[in-house]
Amino acid sequence: MSLSKKKILIGMTGGIACYKIPYLVRALKKADAEVMVVMTEAATKFITPLTMETVSGNPVAVGMFEGKTYIATRHIDLSEWADVNLIAPATANCIGKIASGISDDLLTTVLCASTTHTIFSPAMNVHMWENKITQRNIAMLKEVGYLFIDPTEGDMACNHYGVGRMPEPEDLFSVIQAYFNKNRQSLKNEHSSAKKKSLKNKKILITAGPTKEQIDPVRFISNNSSGKMGYALASVAVELGAEVTLISGPTSEEVPANLKLIQIKTTDELLKAVQKEYKKTDCLIMAAAPADIRPSQIAKSKIKKDNQKMEIALEPTTDILKEITKNKTVNSAKIIGFALETDNGLANAKKKLKDKKLDAIVLNQPSEKTAFESDTNEVTLLIPKRKAVHIPLDTKRNISIRLLDIISKLL
Ligand SMILES: Cc1cc2nc3c(=O)[nH]c(=O)nc-3n(C[C@H](O)[C@H](O)[C@H](O)COP(=O)(O)O)c2cc1C
Repeated sequence: MSLSKKKILIGMTGGIACYKIPYLVRALKKADAEVMVVMTEAATKFITPLTMETVSGNPVAVGMFEGKTYIATRHIDLSEWADVNLIAPATANCIGKIASGISDDLLTTVLCASTTHTIFSPAMNVHMWENKITQRNIAMLKEVGYLFIDPTEGDMACNHYGVGRMPEPEDLFSVIQAYFNKNRQSLKNEHSSAKKKSLKNKKILITAGPTKEQIDPVRFISNNSSGKMGYALASVAVELGAEVTLISGPTSEEVPANLKLIQIKTTDELLKAVQKEYKKTDCLIMAAAPADIRPSQIAKSKIKKDNQKMEIALEPTTDILKEITKNKTVNSAKIIGFALETDNGLANAKKKLKDKKLDAIVLNQPSEKTAFESDTNEVTLLIPKRKAVHIPLDTKRNISIRLLDIISKLL
């Protein structure tokens, strides 16, 4: 769909990513859109209104009270003019103000008065992005219908590495196009990198779900794993263009289309399947939760209940990651482990990362909202010699998008 005559209000706030916006405005103008730019005072420190006026072909509004006459209620006119508002870059400050109903300058007043959709493209330092108040503000705005383009991960102007970079102008342009194609669902709930085929030509092996170790023909030892995280990873990996093999323990999850499914039951079967498939893959993601103990012997018939003290002798199952990483070299496929910890999570995950020679580990800490059966999760990704990346509470699908975005860069 063309952007011809679409009215796009670009709100610029005070971040270094302002330098990308003239490219976006030029692309929008080339697509025959009409563009009005409103800048905060802080934004004008990064790029001049003259530049934005020249590329947009329209006067640039900054101050609330700077008009020559006060007849016009410029904030209302601007809010009624736009078909959509794109706030890019969106500072933590601006997001916080809108979330709090503050309108103390022209841009925030226009947004307060606006009845059309507003899309924020946050851009900020990784700590500002991960700040719990920033995340709370974003969650609150999403809940009432504001749309967001998630920032990407990478090197930052402040010399940090992490999430907080504004996507490139061509990505913002695609978002505007998607918006007018009524593809708003993807904006509201999903990370923008989901649209990129970042795993094209990659073979990804994912394990999911629990394993079961029989005690007797009717009873077994297992765990609470639902397989939801592994299945979400598999589904997103397919969408990102990967050739996916999913090795799954018993779950009731729907199998995603376009992947190879290998069903296993016991930890030994899981080990054998992983050993066979690992040689053919670029990356193994061990999201399964194998039972790590099993009865030393499986009773041939159902054990009868009696009044005496009953005991089952147990033994450990094989540690799959330890087994697979035994002969790992720098040229081997990457291995991403998962750690589920209830206590000392970070320390235990770091130890597992090192001891098992993993390329990355995803730390899960179960809570009410991140339990096995839950559709949401909150994780921390640890990569050797890098700062930990915390992914706040989100759907398992969105968590998968974020994780695979980072993992794709390791391959
Ligand atoms: C060099 C420099 C770069 C900055 N970059 C950002 C940024 O990328 N994101 C952000 O949220 N704030 C950034 N800030 C801080 C904001 O400019 C500051 O919070 C300001 O009050 C934002 O005002 P505004 O939201 O009204 O534009 C930066 C400040 C400086 C001096």
